[in-house]
Amino acid sequence: MKQPFFYDITLRDGNQSLKKPWDIKEKEYVFDLLCELGVQAIEVGFPASSEMDFEACKLLAQKAPEDVVISGLARATKGDIARAAEAIKYATKPRIHTFITLSPFHMEYVLNKTPEQTREIAVEAVKYAVQEIGKNGEVQFSVEHFGDCGENLDFVIETLKDVVEAGATTINLPNTVERYRPMRFLNMVEKVRKALPEHVTIAVHCHNDLGMATATTVESYFKGAVQLECSLNGLGERTGNTNLYEVAIALHNSGVEVPLDLSKFYETAIDIAHASNVKIHEKAPLIGSDSLAHRSGIHQDGALKTKDMEMGAYRPINPTLIGRNDNEKIAFTSQSGKTAIFEIVKSQGYPITIKEAIRISHKAKEMAESIGEVSTDQIVALYINHVLDVKGKFDFIDFEKKSENRYELKFMYENNLYHPEGEGNGPVACCLNALKNAGFEQKLVHYEQFALDETLLGSSSRAMSVIHMEKDDTKEEIIARAVDSDTARANVKAIFNAMNLIYQ
Ligand code: KIV
Ligand code: ZN
Repeated sequence: MKQPFFYDITLRDGNQSLKKPWDIKEKEYVFDLLCELGVQAIEVGFPASSEMDFEACKLLAQKAPEDVVISGLARATKGDIARAAEAIKYATKPRIHTFITLSPFHMEYVLNKTPEQTREIAVEAVKYAVQEIGKNGEVQFSVEHFGDCGENLDFVIETLKDVVEAGATTINLPNTVERYRPMRFLNMVEKVRKALPEHVTIAVHCHNDLGMATATTVESYFKGAVQLECSLNGLGERTGNTNLYEVAIALHNSGVEVPLDLSKFYETAIDIAHASNVKIHEKAPLIGSDSLAHRSGIHQDGALKTKDMEMGAYRPINPTLIGRNDNEKIAFTSQSGKTAIFEIVKSQGYPITIKEAIRISHKAKEMAESIGEVSTDQIVALYINHVLDVKGKFDFIDFEKKSENRYELKFMYENNLYHPEGEGNGPVACCLNALKNAGFEQKLVHYEQFALDETLLGSSSRAMSVIHMEKDDTKEEIIARAVDSDTARANVKAIFNAMNLIYQ
């Protein structure tokens, strides 16, 4: 199969759809972005539409790279064609793009012409364009409303044969208004491809009225349409034209070599949104700000298990392919689960176990049911309030050193004050023995303490203690942690957090 040929129409179809079409400087800015992406052809404008557009087309033709086809649109009239030729003749590869409708409905009600009259206009226009653009240039002919030509396709094909005979080397088949199923269009494209000589390039130009322009364009390529007319951010009349990024990525994912710099897509999309004043929908495929967010527990689990892989469980590409560095987002809502909590807390630099995440996820779900998405800061606050400070039957008050290896412990248990003393080798042993002396014996399984990262909890030199204790009855291992600037207090607070979990 031939490599796809990307013919960009942002500066023409895209521009004509803007609430404020671009001036010359703005067109030059978009043109430079297109050249950086490496598109094979750029339709720079419609020179007969205004003096400004004529000047813009002329400037862009003058500065165009030698290997990029520069095209100007012209209706099938001598005036338009001459104006287009005048503007783009400076390019190394100039192309006049002329068009007329061949759809029965439009010939009758819009053009007020018979099919025979229209055919003659088309052929004459192409002949004139060939003459005007000269030996270095070429002519593209478009059947406007090709998608509406199902009932007179034989007439269209016969006309296209004449148009090719007259010198057109590219035949463009627009779905000017997307009304029907893609397969209907594909069958028509295939019939035209088979009817015309091999040397003729077939192009498709799909509008997105029913949201299927990308699908139609991608599949048209596999039916022999090599020239794919697309626009940046899908800009174009009404609901837009085929979005270039989507087509390129669909082909890339299907094993087709795409002659574009894919890594510039994301940055270009942001630049085009600013330049056009058309915001990118947050759910827009590939480039939407929310298009990498996972909110359901099942999706979050799959996404995290495949996070660093080329193929992801719930994403079409690794976002770095299009120069996107913001990665997949795990956001917590009432639909999310423990994995999200685990990941969000961990991403903020705090240690957490899955059991602790389960504990917070119950609280976070309650919160999400009333406020919607719970922010990272809110989840960290839940972690601080429910993991680093577990409320329950015990209320730790004080821990005072009485002598070497002897401490007094003061705490409340179910509203009664206790102040037992305990001996041992270090504060952990003293605290556990004091608890035992008060009738609350517990088995320590593991203990560790480390300095907390300076950036966490807004303070330097804080210690985090982690205590593992075994529940007497079930032998379940309980893990609790606590933070304090005093290392001994950090230990005792962690033990009381564990006690509150055990005595729940
Ligand atoms: O949508 C369309 O038919 C067009 C033509 C001018 C190619 O934009
Ligand atoms: Zn169009």
